[in-house]
Parts: sequence; C-alpha cells; structure tokens
Amino acid sequence: MTIKKVGVLGCGLMGSGIAQVSATAGFDVISLEVDEKFIERGFAGIRKSLAKLAEKGKLNEPVDAILARLKGTTRKEDLADCDIIVEAIIENLAEKRKMFAAIDPIVKPSAIFASNTSSISITETMTATRRADRFVGLHFFNPVPLMNLVEVARTIVTSPEVLETVIAFGKKLGKTPVRTNDMPGFIVNRLLVPYLMDAIRAFEEGVGSVSDIDASMKLGCGYPMGPFTLLDFVGLDTTYYISIVMFDEFKEKRFASPSLLKRMVLAGWHGKKSGKGFYDWSDPAAPAPQDAALRGL
Ligand SMILES: NC(=O)c1ccc[n+]([C@@H]2O[C@H](COP(=O)([O-])OP(=O)(O)OC[C@H]3O[C@@H](n4cnc5c(N)ncnc54)[C@H](O)[C@@H]3O)[C@@H](O)[C@H]2O)c1
Repeated sequence: MTIKKVGVLGCGLMGSGIAQVSATAGFDVISLEVDEKFIERGFAGIRKSLAKLAEKGKLNEPVDAILARLKGTTRKEDLADCDIIVEAIIENLAEKRKMFAAIDPIVKPSAIFASNTSSISITETMTATRRADRFVGLHFFNPVPLMNLVEVARTIVTSPEVLETVIAFGKKLGKTPVRTNDMPGFIVNRLLVPYLMDAIRAFEEGVGSVSDIDASMKLGCGYPMGPFTLLDFVGLDTTYYISIVMFDEFKEKRFASPSLLKRMVLAGWHGKKSGKGFYDWSDPAAPAPQDAALRGL
C-alpha cells in the first residue's frame, strides 16, 4: 500500500499541525473544514510555524515548495482520491461518526481511515463506515511539528497490513510510532489524565499553590512544564471531555473530573487559547497564576 495523498479532517490546533508535517514530509495534502475562514486561520498558523522552522534551518526545502503541496477545501468530494484520511475534528463521538459515515462512500475503498481522537473508542467510530478493517487510531501530540510521538491504535479487526502501512507513514512524518490497542486514552492519556486530575484535586485540597505545584513537578521530576501549565496548553475543555469519556469507560475516580475543572470549563476558562485557565495569559511571557480567583475565599 502506497500513501501519496493525505486528507486531513479539521484544520484546528491538531489538524493544521498534521497537515503541516504531512506536507513537509512530501505528501500532497488536502484539509477539510466547515468554513473557508477556518482553513485560512489554520493555514496562517502553518505559514507562521514553517517560517520559524526555516529560520532555524530545520527545513530541507523552501517554505513555498511545502505550501504548494497543501490545499484546503470545504467539499468532501475533494477527498475522493486520498490514500489516507486523518480525522482531527472536535472530540465528540456523534460528530466523528457522522463525518466518517459521510465520507465513506466518497473516498476510494482502498484508502485508510485514521482518527486522532484522544479518548473516543476507535471501534465505536469505525462502525460508522464499511471499512472497519482499514480503520486505526493515529494519535499525535501538541504541537504536532515539535512532538515526536505518535500512538498507532489497532482494533481487533484492523488488518495487519493497514497497521504496518500506518506505522510506516508515521515514520515518514519523522515521528516515533508506538503500537497500542484501542482502549480510551491509549498509553499516554491513560497515565497522564489521572496525573492532571490529581494535580487539580491537590490544589482544591490546598496542598500548594498553582505555581508551587507546577514548580515542584518541573524541578522535582524534571518535567518540561508543570501540570497546570500543561492543562492550560492542552485546553481545559478538551481535557474535561477526555476525562468524561475515560471515567465513563473505567468508572474509576482517578479519571473523574474534579468539580473545579468543570466549573472553569463552564465559565469559559479554557486555558491559554481562551486567555484564562489556571493562569491568566494576557502576557504570554509572564502568565499570572489565578489562585485567588479559583479558591474564592
Ligand atoms: N488539543 C490537543 O492537545 C490534542 C492532542 C491530541 C489529540 N487531540 C484530538 O484532536 C482532535 C481535534 O482537537 P483540536 O485540539 O485540534 O481541536 P480544535 O477545536 O482546535 O479543532 C477542531 C477543528 O475541527 C473543525 N471541525 C469541526 N467539525 C468539523 C466537521 N464536521 N468537518 C470539518 N471540520 C470540522 C473545527 O472547525 C475546528 O477547526 C480531537 O479529537 C482531540 O481530542 C487534541
């Protein structure tokens, strides 16, 4: 199986990154969005990121040559001749199933379908199509151009040939693929989500301040950033949805979302992208911890 053309569904935080690394690796890429304005927003981010990488001498060819392989569309019909589709739309099972069911009759039968979901069952998503054996999880990390890992998740019906093709594709993108079975959260979020939920619970119980908990995990464990900075980067809304799916599957408190996280999401504090989360990001160079507002009393 040869992959030449990549279709990416959604051009948000993750979809734009996946489109960027695919075009950089030499694949023809087409990005599908619901509206032209989201393609423009995503492609502007790609241009900015490629310019930075070029400045650092990390690209093998001019930015324009990479951009020439990248196209945007709002028409599903334009995905017909893709060899692989990587889905990165919102973290919602019904939306993902609707999308895959709609493109299944359009995209050529030999194409592979992959979902970048963080927590939703690949098995439950794939049954919206008639190509269950050609369906995998392909979970990238944020920011996609910089993070080296990609999790490749097989279901019990994934064809071994499809799995190997996707692993080879991940390597061509310059990533290190790891194999995992289709279980909510795969490997990384299975371990990371309880840690993030525990950090919030520790803060709620008054163990320490936002900045002291962050500093502790950075300096005491050598992590590149503390849990609250990471939560603000990933997005509190996304983390909240992931915890709901994982708690629903495992029914264990460690995956349950603390009350504070839910209240922050409901109040629109979604982390860096919304300007506020555990920190106020008005000045991204000096994020201000929000202990006083979060604790209230
Ligand atoms: N944020 C992360 O750190 C992260 C990491 C790994 C995986 N993921 C997963 O990647 C997926 C996308 O997350 P994100 O952070 O990029 O979200 P995002 O909100 O930044 O982007 C989602 C994009 O999908 C588009 N979209 C929604 N419905 C669509 C449709 N029907 N057709 C075409 N486009 C549609 C939206 O317009 C939006 O631009 C989710 O499944 C998420 O769990 C996220």
